[in-house]
Amino acid sequence: MNTRSIRILPSLLAADMGRLAEACRLAESAGADGLHVDIMDSHFVPNLSMGPDVVRAARRVTKLPLSVHLMMSRPDGLADAFLDAGANTLLIHVEARCDPAALLGRIRERGARAGLTLNPETPAEAALPYRERADEILCMTVHPGFGGQSFLEEVLPKIRGLREALPGMALSVDGGLNDETTARCAEAGADIFLVGSSLFTADGDMAARIRSMRAAIQKSLAGRG
Ligand code: DX5
Ligand code: ZN
Repeated sequence: MNTRSIRILPSLLAADMGRLAEACRLAESAGADGLHVDIMDSHFVPNLSMGPDVVRAARRVTKLPLSVHLMMSRPDGLADAFLDAGANTLLIHVEARCDPAALLGRIRERGARAGLTLNPETPAEAALPYRERADEILCMTVHPGFGGQSFLEEVLPKIRGLREALPGMALSVDGGLNDETTARCAEAGADIFLVGSSLFTADGDMAARIRSMRAAIQKSLAGRG
C-alpha cells in the first residue's frame, strides 16, 4: 500500500486572467490541493507573466496554499514581496543568478516552504548540495516559459534518481501533465503535480478532471506494488 501524499495544484497560467477570482474558487471547489502561480521575468524565460499583486489578489479569494514559481534570473530581489503577498511555497531555480542556499534559507526563515527547481537539462546532482535547505524539489518536465507544451519524457530518469537519493523529499513536476504523463511521473516518484492546460479547459469541469488524474496516479502506484 502506498502512503505517499499526492497533491494536485492547478496552474493559474492556464486560467482566464480576466476571471482570476472565479478560477481560484473553481480550483478550490474542484478539490485542488493548492494553486500554482507562474512568475516570468522575460529574462530567465522569454515570456512575462504576473507579479506580487496577482499573488495578493489570489490570496484574498482562496485559502488554498499558493505555490509560487519564480522563473526569474534574480529571484532574491522580489522573494520578500511574494512572501508578503501570501505565497506559502516559493520555488526558485538552481540556474538563477543568485545564491540558492542563502535564498532557500531566507524563505524558510520567513515561515514559507522553500523549493528548488531544475530545468529539464539540469542534472539531479545540482540539487543535492541543497537537500537540507529545501522542502521540495521541482523537476521541470517542459522548458519553462509557456503553458501547453509537450511533456519531456527524458526527465523521468532524473525523477527516479532523485526519489532514490532523497526518499523523504517532496518531489514536484511541472509541464505537459495529463492523466497519462502524471501517472508516469508518480510511478517514477513524484508526489506534487503542477498542472495548467489539462485542468483549466473550456468546459470547466475541473472536479472530474482532478478525480480522473488522482485515479490514474493511484492506478500506477498500485501497479508498482
Ligand atoms: C511552464 C510553467 C507551468 C505551466 C504548465 O513554464 O512553469 O507551471 O503552467 O502548463 P501546462 O500544464 O499547460 O504545461
Ligand atoms: Zn510552474
